[in-house]
Amino acid sequence: MTQDELKQAVARAAVEYVKGGIIGVGTGSTANYFIDELAKVKGRIDGAVASSEATAQRLRGHGIDVVDLNSVASMEIYVDGADEITKHMHMIKGGGGALTREKIVAAVAKKFICIADESKLVGMLGKFPLPVEVIPMARSYVARELVALGGNPALRQGFTTDNGNVILDVHGLTIMNPVELENKINSIVGVVTNGLFAARAADVLLLGTSAGVQTMKAE
Ligand code: 5RP
Repeated sequence: MTQDELKQAVARAAVEYVKGGIIGVGTGSTANYFIDELAKVKGRIDGAVASSEATAQRLRGHGIDVVDLNSVASMEIYVDGADEITKHMHMIKGGGGALTREKIVAAVAKKFICIADESKLVGMLGKFPLPVEVIPMARSYVARELVALGGNPALRQGFTTDNGNVILDVHGLTIMNPVELENKINSIVGVVTNGLFAARAADVLLLGTSAGVQTMKAE
């Protein structure tokens, strides 16, 4: 099976978790497959909260109501992809630059369902450069702090987040303790958030493999 077919398979599997109410929807190519599958059962839900402008546009294109998170008191599920995920359900996200809104929507949801093809499952996080969303005027200061933490930050060229900020992609990190590093980076003044999703990890991973979709939970 191709990587796209694996992404489609996990997107289909995630629809089984859609029972009703408002759901949170992530960003990226795997999330896009999920949106396309969600469109087939859109009568089941009252609407969706989008984690990016791109996702909002795709949801609306399918006739799915996009709801402001501020009007949502509770949400059963958030469905999104990942750039890397471990068996502990810790993730690196933000390859698409939507990490901050993704983290906010995920925080509200009771269950985070990660959908990913098997290439995303790793033993240790960090091969994928860690995205850090930064207030533009703090870019150089934050970069120096990230170097002090052992990373090699690179400005994502020609990219501005939906929040009007820049992204530093941090190469070369050995992430032994994802929760600690997530908190440490988030405490640097000027950082909006970083792409480690460890403090709030996924609850379920639907992993697309050539042998079928595997359902995994934190070990
Ligand atoms: C976007 C993300 C995506 O979930 C992540 O980049 C995975 O993308 P894809 O499903 O295209 O592989 O965090 O900010």
